[in-house]
Amino acid sequence: MNKPFIETKEYKRFAEFCDACRKYKYIGICYGLPGVGKTLSSQHYAKWSYVNKQISYKGADQIGINADERILNCKTIFYTAPSIKASQMIGDIRLLGGRLGMVKSVYKYLEEGEEEKYSTDWTEDVDLVIIDEIDRLKLQSLEQLRDLYDQNNFALILIGMPGIEKRLARYPQLYSRIGFAHEFEKLSKDETHHILQYKWDELGVSIKLEDFSDYEAISTIIRITNGNFRLIHRLFSQIERILEINQLNSITTDVVEAARDSLVIGIK
Ligand SMILES: Nc1ncnc2c1ncn2[C@@H]1O[C@H](COP(=O)(O)OP(=O)(O)OP(=O)(O)O)[C@@H](O)[C@H]1O
Ligand SMILES: [Mg+2]
Repeated sequence: MNKPFIETKEYKRFAEFCDACRKYKYIGICYGLPGVGKTLSSQHYAKWSYVNKQISYKGADQIGINADERILNCKTIFYTAPSIKASQMIGDIRLLGGRLGMVKSVYKYLEEGEEEKYSTDWTEDVDLVIIDEIDRLKLQSLEQLRDLYDQNNFALILIGMPGIEKRLARYPQLYSRIGFAHEFEKLSKDETHHILQYKWDELGVSIKLEDFSDYEAISTIIRITNGNFRLIHRLFSQIERILEINQLNSITTDVVEAARDSLVIGIK
């Protein structure tokens, strides 16, 4: 199942940052605290759940059979930096690009009657490569990414935790190629409030606004999750659990606080 995704203001800012990097073919870095939505936003921008399904074909006879015209507009590769053995990294990225190119060629041949032509250039129709979790990478791997960028004609976005921009500043050659830096911020209070009021379904939780006993319970959620998407999700699963165990049907401040106490991390 696809995770529900809400196009928040932060997402829109992030998408503008990606558009700008693509336009100028720059290297961009994006950093933000854990759980604010960097990975999910990158995948959403890249339409990765769709693309990944199309490029995960097994045999040659499977290529492109489920593709539709959307594939022609998919020009972003999303890749998570490996936690070990980064030596495979460049090969992996090339493979993703090659597979995407293959699906597009087959689609064009099958559906649009174009000549059967397979390019050996995996970057031909890729204009952005997003690498997530770059905090894991050592200098050597970062240098390989720089090489990859230099040899090709696409934008590169590196996603990491706050502080990564300072670490990269120690590598002048890579750093000098960075065109834009973007901080992925947490949700504002107003937007959290808006999401809590109007976007339940999109969050994939079964709770409804009328389940709240009072306004204070909502304010408590906003305060303790502090704009962090992951905490909002976690807190809601706990709230659902507590309501069920205690056979309650209304969310009070007590319920929210009990839910918070049963979460291990992140909430003070
Ligand atoms: N726009 C969104 N709409 C709905 N849910 C979201 C959204 N952004 C984030 N989430 C929720 O928050 C969780 C954390 O998001 P994500 O994994 O993208 O964070 P992250 O910034 O990459 O964190 P980390 O630095 O730990 O990797 C997601 O699993 C999802 O449940
Ligand atoms: Mg992440």
